[in-house]
Amino acid sequence: MKKNVLIIGGGGREHAIAYSLSRSEKVGKIYCAPGNAGIAQIAECHPELKATDLDGVVAFVRSHPDIYMTVVAPDDPLAAGMVDRLEAEGFRAFGPRAAAARLEASKSFAKDLMKKYGIPTAGYEVFTDYASAAEYLDGCAYPVVLKADGLALGKGVLICETEEEAKNGLKEIMLDKAFGSAGNTLVIEDFLTGFECSALAFCDGKTIVPMTTSQDHKRALDGNKGLNTGGMGTFSPSYKVSAETEKRIYDEVLLPTLNGLNAEGIEFKGVLYAGLMINGDDIKVLEYNARFGDPETQVILPRLATDLFDIFEACIDGTLSDVKIEWTGNCAVCVIAASGGYPEAYEKGKEISISDVDDNIIVFHAGTSHIDGKLVTSGGRVLGVTALAPTLKAARDSAYKNIENIEFDKMHYRRDILSEL
Ligand code: AMP
Ligand code: GLY
Repeated sequence: MKKNVLIIGGGGREHAIAYSLSRSEKVGKIYCAPGNAGIAQIAECHPELKATDLDGVVAFVRSHPDIYMTVVAPDDPLAAGMVDRLEAEGFRAFGPRAAAARLEASKSFAKDLMKKYGIPTAGYEVFTDYASAAEYLDGCAYPVVLKADGLALGKGVLICETEEEAKNGLKEIMLDKAFGSAGNTLVIEDFLTGFECSALAFCDGKTIVPMTTSQDHKRALDGNKGLNTGGMGTFSPSYKVSAETEKRIYDEVLLPTLNGLNAEGIEFKGVLYAGLMINGDDIKVLEYNARFGDPETQVILPRLATDLFDIFEACIDGTLSDVKIEWTGNCAVCVIAASGGYPEAYEKGKEISISDVDDNIIVFHAGTSHIDGKLVTSGGRVLGVTALAPTLKAARDSAYKNIENIEFDKMHYRRDILSEL
């Protein structure tokens, strides 16, 4: 008997999860809350049900006894305890409970865990009052990195070149509360150089299995200029990471993180994501996420050869060591088509036209909806054009060729994803 699944979230990541589950022979109907116009092609979407509405989601699952499993994809409902709530009612849910999701929801918690268990990360101090933080900034080396403690849509990180910039940033975070209560506690961290890589892994509380590597492009503009975004493009595998480095990431970061959490009495089930800075032999953790990355998922899952539903089952049941997780030989590149102005203010409701795309292309929807029968933009990141090809270079060329077939007013995308190849 096929099993019905509910996915919580409505971005490109959730579209990629829905796409992957829709290819499983074991999965029947897919529900998605709230979903988007692209997800609606393969799932029954419930735009009225917000991803952060814990009561609403629990009530929805209660009233749909055909739902076998709920996949909680975004950070906020995980941090708020959606998985705990579903489990308390006897429902099956994929994702970490709130205590484990703190790894992402509190940067100071994550930093202290890394320090305690010897996981390599940038030197740092934690502050809960403005005056001591300001005093610390008087004597520190620049550039320096300021991080609001809580979730801030990936935007609560400021890289400050000078003391003046840092003092302004400090005021913004701790006094003006630019990121709300996320700024009550502040981490001030040493600035690291190198290249960034995303190490995602499936985790069942006892076993942690790395996914293939990927690399995000977080800045809005070409040449890594402009503001930090949720991610403007990704590729997988990360050609800069050798097999030896992958092994070290497992030995020095992923496994010690799982072991450290267990030593603290915290069971982590779901996707553990370590954002890394790699410089020669030096591997350091920049941040953890307690979920799939967006847009990393849009290049990782299309390369997954194993049934994603089986992996979710094994993560929940604690049987991950029995599953062989395999990847196809293809490479993947995803270029995000964003609304003009993103990550700052942007307009919504722009009509989107997508003419024919090649067979090796998947157009993942991130911020789209249907209004009066028209496909329109409804978010900052609108679409992710993922190309699959035998080489990264061919995938890049194909993604860029096909994004030309997509249009909406003020559409913006980075033109330099993998331009070094
Ligand atoms: P985070 O949300 O902690 O990953 O930070 C967002 C982005 O800020 C990262 O992807 C990096 O590009 C940058 N960043 C964060 N921490 C540091 C650091 N210690 N040194 C240099 N860049 C950093
Ligand atoms: N792409 C970065 C993230 O998902 O946090």
